[in-house]
Amino acid sequence: MKTTISVLKADIGSIGGHIKPSQELLAEVRNSVAANAKGLLIDYYISFTGDDIAILCTHTRGVNDEKIHKLAWDAFRAGTTVAKKAGLYGAGQDLLKDAFSGNVRGLGPAVAEMEIEERENEPFLFFAADKTDPGAYNLPFYLAFADPMYCSGLILSPKMSQGFKFRIIDVSYTEKNKIIELVAPEEIYDIAALLRDTEKYVIESIYSRSTGNQCAALSTQRLHNIAGKYTGKDDPVALVRVQGEFPATGEVLAPFNIGHYVAGFMRGSHIGPLMPCKLQTTISYFDGPPVVTGAAFSIKEGKLSEPADVFDHPYWEAIRMQVAHKASEIRRQGFCGPSMLPFSELEYGGVVEKLKELDKKFKFSD
Ligand code: F6R
Ligand code: MG
Ligand code: MG
Repeated sequence: MKTTISVLKADIGSIGGHIKPSQELLAEVRNSVAANAKGLLIDYYISFTGDDIAILCTHTRGVNDEKIHKLAWDAFRAGTTVAKKAGLYGAGQDLLKDAFSGNVRGLGPAVAEMEIEERENEPFLFFAADKTDPGAYNLPFYLAFADPMYCSGLILSPKMSQGFKFRIIDVSYTEKNKIIELVAPEEIYDIAALLRDTEKYVIESIYSRSTGNQCAALSTQRLHNIAGKYTGKDDPVALVRVQGEFPATGEVLAPFNIGHYVAGFMRGSHIGPLMPCKLQTTISYFDGPPVVTGAAFSIKEGKLSEPADVFDHPYWEAIRMQVAHKASEIRRQGFCGPSMLPFSELEYGGVVEKLKELDKKFKFSD
């Protein structure tokens, strides 16, 4: 039996700014999923990270299934009605279109999905990040799947010695999916050359080269490419199978201790360090810092275990202190230089208009 793991995620409104969804909103999404789950889903788990709500579910219908996407779309729509009624901020923000058209891709919600042949023991991780964009996973996943300095399994485990295949998407191209496949270790310089540009090239999925099995699926949509303008950052989700032929859970988590700088933070227009946080973490300092949460699961015939919170450990407390320090440091230089994103990536167009006006006032002299 093949199992599909799908996660669909949207920001449909939150309390007090872009902080977190209300309990009432979460309950509405949960109720809507529960009401429509019969005959479609094997299991599901509803959670939030910052202002985003994610519907993680298992089923046997494969990826991009119309009924599964509609179920999530309907839940987000129902939630939006509740969010609007309660006056939550940004109600329905990520639902860019009014009508569902077969698939949530291009409609606003982020989606990551994998159809797998379950192993006897099937552990996987579900990551959700807020106040950042899909390129945020480029570095940690490159290090976890291609660098033995982070993933010791690449040299210690015969099951992993052949390395991994990366599918990388050019998110700036919107007419079709524009994807390249590159393999590690032979092509790591090419992979790195692409992944350094986190706003253009994003990991879409990763496969084991020993078995051909898929081990990672990421959401790659960028709302500004869909909407033609920025409507918010694209707070990405990811699914990663772990152990055995894949990196161990701890190897996938290891690179998150860097707290690397990513695009996002206040107004989706800055650079800030990605802080690995406990599940259900809210947003705070400077509408950030960018956060990532991780829930580990085991599944059996699609049935989910309870989640284990991978960043809820004393080790990560120390990391969070360091990352908080990095966040304060880069914020000390305010708008200047690399702390703010280049024009092409700014979520707000105001400064561009301002510069056009100012440009008219420049005078030429020798
Ligand atoms: C970033 C984000 C927030 C808002 C900021 C201003 O993705 O959601 O940082 O950009 O709170 O929000 P508005 O413009 O809605 O007042
Ligand atoms: Mg938001
Ligand atoms: Mg968000």
